[in-house]
Amino acid sequence: MRNLGWALALALGALAACNPDDVVHRVGWFATMRHQRSIKPYARPIPSVAGTVPITGAEPAVNLQMADRLANQRTRTSESINRGRFLYETYCLVCHGVAGKGDGPISATNGQTPPGPFFGVRSLVDDAIARRTDGYIYAVIVSGQVMGRGLMPVYGDKVRGTDRWDVVNYVRTLQAEARSGGKR
Ligand code: HEC
Repeated sequence: MRNLGWALALALGALAACNPDDVVHRVGWFATMRHQRSIKPYARPIPSVAGTVPITGAEPAVNLQMADRLANQRTRTSESINRGRFLYETYCLVCHGVAGKGDGPISATNGQTPPGPFFGVRSLVDDAIARRTDGYIYAVIVSGQVMGRGLMPVYGDKVRGTDRWDVVNYVRTLQAEARSGGKR
């Protein structure tokens, strides 16, 4: 009986050592909680309902040929840059990193061990991207795929309207910081 008591205490101790959220789904009955039919974030963008029209106006598609001619609709004010920074930190930082060097937490080239899982992330602050037009960067945000950059997920359905130009303006700020030695 005393041995059983010890065994029980040990088992409880082992359980307490790990996060219950990590083990509980291994028990068949509880697993249904995890393996439910739910929509994972971003997994299945919901298409607009048939017969409805977007009240914010349909948007013209972007493509490689016209991207360079798109005019930035937002002046580079501190308001625009702050908005861009908020959006960049929400959507882009995970891959492109705080300073835009391509070393975000999930980037495979973040220099950490183990490295992040996402391959091919590139720097946004090197000369090649600094020389790109605002329109080009805008179009990559709308759809990397359409712009021939298949490795980057589409962000046009998440970052919308003039927000995209605010992100472009913030990327320009990161490029300027990198040129001046970079504070980060
Ligand atoms: C999930 C990771 C990921 C996120 C998040 C991400 N990117 Fe990217 N980005 C990439 C990868 C990978 C590439 C390289 C694409 C390629 O060469 O196919 C890239 C390339 C780019 C390029 C350069 C395109 C070129 O000509 O080489 C720009 C500009 C860019 N991203 C901007 C952004 C902005 C702005 C955001 C936020 C709205 C963002 N990215 C979010 C992964 C990401």
